[in-house]
Parts: sequence; C-alpha cells; structure tokens
Amino acid sequence: ASSQCSYTYEKYKETADWLLSHTHIRPKVAIICGTGLGGLADLLDSKTVFPYKDIPNFPRSTVEGHAGQLVFGDLKGKQCVCMQGRFHFYEGYSTATVTYPVRVFFLLGVETLIVTNAAGGINPKFNVGDIMMIKDHINFPGFAGQNPLCGQNDEKFGVRFPCMSDAYDKAWAQLTRQTAEEQGCSSFFQEGVYCMLAGPTFETIAECKVLQLLGADAVGMSTVPEVVVARHCGLRVLGLSLITNKVVITYDSEERANHEEVLEIGRIRTKDFQRLVSHVVAKM
Ligand code: 6GU
Repeated sequence: ASSQCSYTYEKYKETADWLLSHTHIRPKVAIICGTGLGGLADLLDSKTVFPYKDIPNFPRSTVEGHAGQLVFGDLKGKQCVCMQGRFHFYEGYSTATVTYPVRVFFLLGVETLIVTNAAGGINPKFNVGDIMMIKDHINFPGFAGQNPLCGQNDEKFGVRFPCMSDAYDKAWAQLTRQTAEEQGCSSFFQEGVYCMLAGPTFETIAECKVLQLLGADAVGMSTVPEVVVARHCGLRVLGLSLITNKVVITYDSEERANHEEVLEIGRIRTKDFQRLVSHVVAKM
C-alpha cells in the first residue's frame, strides 16, 4: 500500500489555481452528479464549463451517462461547482485519481460536498425511484486495502487517522429531511446506509444476502472514496442515492440488474431529484 499512486500538493494546487484564474465564481458548494443525474448541472445559471480534458492534471471519465465536465455557476443564487461525470474505481482509476477533484474543490474554497449516485436497493422497504439520504456508509474496498488515504499523509489536507463516525453532516441531513417534506418528496424519501463495492459486476445473490446481513440499505460502485477524502480535509458532506433498481436476492427471481434500467430511472426521477437538491442548496 505504501507504493499506492498519489499526487503532490502542488498538482492539486496547480489545478485549483488554473480554475480560479479562469472563472470568477467562488463556490462554497460542490456537487458530484451520479450516473443519470448530470442534469443537475444544467440548472446552474451564468455557467462556466470546463471539459475535464482542458483542465490541467484532471482525469477524464469514460462511462455512459456521464458528460465529463466541471460546471461552475449559480444554483438558486448560491455559487456552486458541479462535476458532470465522476471517476469510478471500476474504470481502472486508483482511489487517488477517483478523489482528485475533491481536493481541488477544497483548494477552491469549497466547504460542502454534495455526493449523488445511482444505487441498488437492498432494504426491502425501498421502492425503485426512492431517494435515499445517506446516513452512513460501508467502505468495502477499504476493507480490502483500497482506501484513498492509504500512503503518506499530507497534513496540508488533514490528519493521519481521520474520524468517520460523523461522515455525513447532521445539520445538512436535517435540512434535507425538512426540504424533502416541503417539496412533496415524503412518499419516496428514505434514509439509510450506503455500501460501496468496487464493481463493475453487479452483485450475486449470495453477495446481496451478505450486504443485507451487514446492515446495508443500498449498494453502489462510487461515492465512498470521495466522502473519505472530503472528510479528511474537513468538508461537510451530504449524500443522496437514487434507488434505480432493487437488488436480486432470491434464486427464483427473473430480474436482472442492468445499466439501462439505472439510466431510465435516473430520467424518470431526475426532476424531483433536481428540485430537492436545488432547494437544499438554496438554504445552505
Ligand atoms: Cl444493483 N449494484 C451496484 N453495485 N451498483 C448499482 C446498482 C446495483 N444499481 C445501481 N447501481
């Protein structure tokens, strides 16, 4: 693990300084748009858009449903930066690359990170199309030595042994709960534990049973590395999962998890999702 790929402070700084010299927007909130949820970035006013390929040192994304650009602008009067397209471990990126943008956000002066994703529902009470606010996570790749903070620690970002028992901000959670109610989202608003697996395979039936036993409510292939790095450098985190399918957990089921279904539910729930996030940002 000591040989794990990492970036120097100067690399992140170079990226952040380049962005600061190419936009007048000084975001306090960063939003990572999950698969099928990139439409959030389209809501921003007075946009400045940077394709990842034009940003010094920035990685690029390859997955369908992800545009691959940073969008700066105003969301309900609040200055924001959105990642339209994130980086996934299953694409072959190291956890350091997956989380590269989060440290750049920190150096831009961002104080809050909103992470969104598409996830499979494990909790039998959940329905397809539900929005689950993440109250905690299980870092499965972390169990196997794939924690983005493995390797030398840079104190300029945070401490060697960061606490994760308060990963998801309690005040932002309360604000989101209240906003979900005000916005008429109560019938499809849930809270639960998000479990990250590396992917790209969906889970076997036996694996789903394991996750259920462990107390996971939803499963996905992203988000946790970004949250770990965000908490390390002191960003406040709000996490939202769109439940795009229910995991297959019985041997007689004819259902099969697939990426098209994930994208389709993203499209169906996209307006509600955007409305919730934008009203939360307005009150942050
Ligand atoms: Cl069922 N599993 C995983 N790992 N990720 C997902 C998913 C399922 N549905 C959406 N993303």
